Amino acid sequence: MAPETEARWRSRATDSTVLNEDFTNQWWRSAVVYQIYPRSFADSNADGVGDLGGIAARLDYLAVLGVDVLWLSPVYPSPQADYGYDISDYRAIDPLFGSLDEFDRLLHSAHERSIRVIMDIVVNHTSDEHPWFLESQSEKASPRRDWYWWRPPRYGMEPGAPGAEPTNWASIFSGSAWEFDHGSGEYYLHLFSRKQPDLNWENPAVRHAVYMMMRWWLDRGVDGFRMDVINLISKDPGLPDGHHLPHQPYADGSEYYVCGPRIHSFLQEMRHHVFAGRQGKCLIVGEMPGVTVDEARLFTDPASAEVDMVFQFEHVQLDQGVSKWDYVGFDLRDLKASLGRWQAGLAEVGWNSLYWSNHDQPRIVSRYGNDKEYRVASAKMLATVLHLHRGTPYIFQGEELGMTNALFETVNEFRDIESLNQYAAITGSGVATPGEALAALRLMSRDNARTPMQWNAGPWAGFSTSPPWIQVNPNYSEINAAAAMADPDSVFHHYRKLIELRHTEPVVVHGSFHMLLPHDEQVYAFIRRLGDVELLVLGNFSSAHAGVDLADAAEWARAELLLGTPPELESSGRRLVLRPWEGRVYRRGIPGRGAVEYLDPI
Ligand code: NOJ
Repeated sequence: MAPETEARWRSRATDSTVLNEDFTNQWWRSAVVYQIYPRSFADSNADGVGDLGGIAARLDYLAVLGVDVLWLSPVYPSPQADYGYDISDYRAIDPLFGSLDEFDRLLHSAHERSIRVIMDIVVNHTSDEHPWFLESQSEKASPRRDWYWWRPPRYGMEPGAPGAEPTNWASIFSGSAWEFDHGSGEYYLHLFSRKQPDLNWENPAVRHAVYMMMRWWLDRGVDGFRMDVINLISKDPGLPDGHHLPHQPYADGSEYYVCGPRIHSFLQEMRHHVFAGRQGKCLIVGEMPGVTVDEARLFTDPASAEVDMVFQFEHVQLDQGVSKWDYVGFDLRDLKASLGRWQAGLAEVGWNSLYWSNHDQPRIVSRYGNDKEYRVASAKMLATVLHLHRGTPYIFQGEELGMTNALFETVNEFRDIESLNQYAAITGSGVATPGEALAALRLMSRDNARTPMQWNAGPWAGFSTSPPWIQVNPNYSEINAAAAMADPDSVFHHYRKLIELRHTEPVVVHGSFHMLLPHDEQVYAFIRRLGDVELLVLGNFSSAHAGVDLADAAEWARAELLLGTPPELESSGRRLVLRPWEGRVYRRGIPGRGAVEYLDPI
């Protein structure tokens, strides 16, 4: 944080949420993170796959956008079974993406532009082609055998027979979480694909090998890590069976591996061995599926400082039923309840990550917005609402253009292992017809986020000069970076303004958060407050006009409009009217703060 900004907000601060904390080392509170999925970002060597050269060539674009941190999805050597989330060498760059020299140059160029770079580190599991696993698998007596979770078949059962798996756990990517190894007659655990065996963090040698490798990257100059599914590393060593759900071949074992018994001790040990002496320099983000608000507070409490922020999933699962493929519709009240609870839970201690999109989620404008008639308006409104919350916002590549879900027509157009496994599992078992399975994939597949970045209206959207590894969204001739940069009213420029606002307006970073209208089905509304400054943030989540009834609507209508279009105030003076999918941010000073209690809706 620039010293003048620091001084400015300190002089204004009167909110208890602000006074008790020391933010000097927490630069990431005012930062915006941009996630790059390298294989889909920009291809510099015409092989149809994005690479480090492509990223380097686009750094100026990112500097114009104004982001502070780049998170690179994995670029290490990998068989690419899960597109890099299956690492076979932690200390190199996959030739598909470039070389270590190129990486160092990219890091340097980013730093020259005051952009930090964090690595995606995947240490819950490795690839089954990692030398550690190959050695572990080679013989039962191998010193590395215990680096992974090997178990014999269930007592009395034929090895390899259905039901002989050591536990009944389902893999997150369909099927059993155990793979039978004919060589040794034992099974190994893989919470994700069979190409991603889980490391045994109970073994101290595993932990120290991981810590050494992380220090190696930090010494190279990287600015921190996004740690993949880091709350899954501690398993209940007894590996108990999970509760069987009706009509499911395998059970949910997550209670035995989500935030398991030693998770805090492992992360504190990591903090000690990896980050000691580097406080204030690194950003540590923990991706944590299934984490609760209470746990997140423990993980992010600066007193234990296990991670700087967790990356949680509750608000992007609200439209899902028993599984992510089971779409149940979206209700704005659920979103407010969820995000509001996270804001409140981390108000005094801890910190939120704020995101709509990443490489695992369908495009947000197609999901909680309207990607047709109101694509631009809804993409902007979604951005406004998210970026004005308290926490660190993340932008996933292309979100700043309002990129939409892909229009895959057949299953052959999908590339993602999770999607393809799901399709095979539900069509194979007769649970769904091919048409139903395809419909679910079109809506929820991760490939929606992974289509190539749309740079311009040229061939393959300017992503590559060869056919890309996954199809380009056909709407690239309309939705692309060149067009967006040239249009002052574009989604891109809206994101730029939001980032600038975070950098210049302390209340956005440090202000307290107060949800309004929790039961309104159309409008998302909240107040941010710091010292004598107050913001009102409004978002219309519908294709109709929406009235916002506030006791002091007339007063707000006269306040400074930071973002959005001028209001239409209805005659009563107690209602602000939003256009379809409109977002708006007002700012006002509060003279004689304390006397003003006009926040509640009528
Ligand atoms: C979470 C990552 O975001 C996802 O892409 C990956 O498939 C799993 N972890 C397994 O590493």
